[in-house]
Amino acid sequence: MNERAIPFGRPMLDQAEIDLVVKVLQGTTLVHGPMTHEFEARFAARVEAKHAIAVSSCTAALHLALFAQDVGPGDEVAVPALTHVATAHVAELCQAKPVFVDVEADTGNVDSRALSAAVNGHTRAIMVVHFLGLPCEMDRINPIAEKAGAFIVEDCAIAMDATYGNRKVGTLGAVGCFSFYPVKHITTIEGGMATTNDDVLAQRIAQRKSFGYDKTVDRRTKPGIYDVTALGFNYRMNEVEAAVGLAQLDKLDRFQEQRARNYRDLRTALADIEEVTVFAPERGKARSTHYCLNAVLPRDGSIDRDAAVAELNKAGIGTSVHYPAAIPMMTYYREKYGYKPGQFPVAEWLAAQTISLPTGPHVEPGDAARIGRVMKDAVRRARR
Ligand SMILES: Cc1ncc(COP(=O)(O)O)c(C=O)c1O
Repeated sequence: MNERAIPFGRPMLDQAEIDLVVKVLQGTTLVHGPMTHEFEARFAARVEAKHAIAVSSCTAALHLALFAQDVGPGDEVAVPALTHVATAHVAELCQAKPVFVDVEADTGNVDSRALSAAVNGHTRAIMVVHFLGLPCEMDRINPIAEKAGAFIVEDCAIAMDATYGNRKVGTLGAVGCFSFYPVKHITTIEGGMATTNDDVLAQRIAQRKSFGYDKTVDRRTKPGIYDVTALGFNYRMNEVEAAVGLAQLDKLDRFQEQRARNYRDLRTALADIEEVTVFAPERGKARSTHYCLNAVLPRDGSIDRDAAVAELNKAGIGTSVHYPAAIPMMTYYREKYGYKPGQFPVAEWLAAQTISLPTGPHVEPGDAARIGRVMKDAVRRARR
């Protein structure tokens, strides 16, 4: 008893972030500055993308990915039924129709057969979400997109550094969208990044993240003078956030090694709990970056997930769920489009019967064995 609490996620910040943030605050450039430019350049190099555009969140990146390609009324956007609501909301924000697609039971990634059935001549974009860090099967998805004449947006919010063959996520579609929310692979407090290899699209996204100005501040010959040539938002990242991001990038290799170790150890620790299955961290050409470990409980509901979660939390083990419901079952979407329970059976099952366990760099060697012991007990007590 009285063992150390292990939260689901914890931002890993130290003097390195503090020093860079203080440097920003002691200067006069709080937006549009050198920290953001350097963060973008180093991020692009890391992801091996031609362009990286820093934005205020992954949601902003996802929105810009559609908005910059004029997705609008009458268009459909294919969205996996199990994801963060942001992936669907951005289609709604463009006044397009999200068309939900069920996911695979063994990965949580979009089911390519269901995707193939869901696209049609109205499909402008396909949102792929690399679920909990494992890249989607792009070799199956690309031909579906090509046939429909749709472009692919990758939601890489929880998949930083994951690879498909010899390529990193963020370069597998038209635009890659990353999140730096506090418990992600790296944080900038709030923040996001859009990556692309397309020069024109990069320019369109960069312009629309900043009101549609024709010139960025550093390109203006007369201060304060600009024209506006497109509709746009204020979706910029500020210099404090970029400074935090730069310090985090320095630590990312270590973070990723720790996540991989924690995932491996935790998977081993759960191996003899027969009621629990675990998503594999690789499949075909896809290699995960272990955002967390998803413990999947039996489909028959014989284990009360919420009771098991309560036992874990009581023992100091932090958990999360990905995600709290299949998106079409959330009130806004259910009421707007009239979805009924049972239409997305796998997404609905995974939403109800999985527990996300911590694998972040705050998890120490030896913690996995403890989590495994607590999980075994929790599952036994939660049997209905
Ligand atoms: C798959 C996915 N997409 C998008 C988001 C939204 O990210 P942000 O909070 O940076 O807007 C999240 C947040 O957790 C997510 O999990």
